Amino acid sequence: MPNNAPVNYKLLRRIPYLIILIRYGVNENELKPINLSKIANDLGTTPQNIFKMINRLVKDELIMKNTTNGQLLVKFTPKASEILRFVIDTIRHYLDEKLTIRLVGRVTSGLGEGSFYMSLEGYVKQFIEKLGFKPYPGTLNVALKPEYIKYRLYLDLLPGIYIQGFSNGSRTYGGVKCFRATINGLPGAVLVIERTHHSPNIIEVISQYKLRDALNLKDGDEVEILVSV
Ligand code: CDP
Repeated sequence: MPNNAPVNYKLLRRIPYLIILIRYGVNENELKPINLSKIANDLGTTPQNIFKMINRLVKDELIMKNTTNGQLLVKFTPKASEILRFVIDTIRHYLDEKLTIRLVGRVTSGLGEGSFYMSLEGYVKQFIEKLGFKPYPGTLNVALKPEYIKYRLYLDLLPGIYIQGFSNGSRTYGGVKCFRATINGLPGAVLVIERTHHSPNIIEVISQYKLRDALNLKDGDEVEILVSV
């Protein structure tokens, strides 16, 4: 989605040329010498064409040029930087949207094991370190609607943030992969647990908040989880 910056869309046609000039060291801070023959040669065109391109950019107020001792010098105007920033913002926005997996399901109760695991020091300290929050001791189980199960399976394939398994004396505890997520807008993470006994329609959510209280949830309520991948 384009932002509200007052960008002249016609200038977007100039973007490839601005990128080429960036590759040849042009910037907004100082006039830089450019070699028309070299650029023309690299692009498989004539120096005359590159010169025309430069003049168009000058006319559009995207670059300033100067000639000293027969050497052509150019620099970007603030307008050029603005349009490049617009392109970056647009792409970043698009990618962020693409890199979110949306899951919808209903709150359900588990076997009461989440609070045990989520209290183990070996996990807790890694959650604090790697996710930046101390989880409420428990996991909120969400039973995904059937049409979202396939997206949840993507999470099995993606790298995520890895919480190492550990052993404390007698028992060993498996590794847990997690992904930052929001649940009805509140920040937290989803867990993808190795050797889980759950069926793939259940996803476990952790958060620094007790989500049932913070979001006023009871079993059967629908929730939306946006997972950052
Ligand atoms: O009993 P169950 O396995 O469902 O849950 P648990 O992991 O032992 O967590 C205790 C309770 O806290 C359950 O009702 C969870 O749904 C809830 N919970 C929550 O509201 N918010 C969290 N961040 C974690 C758990």
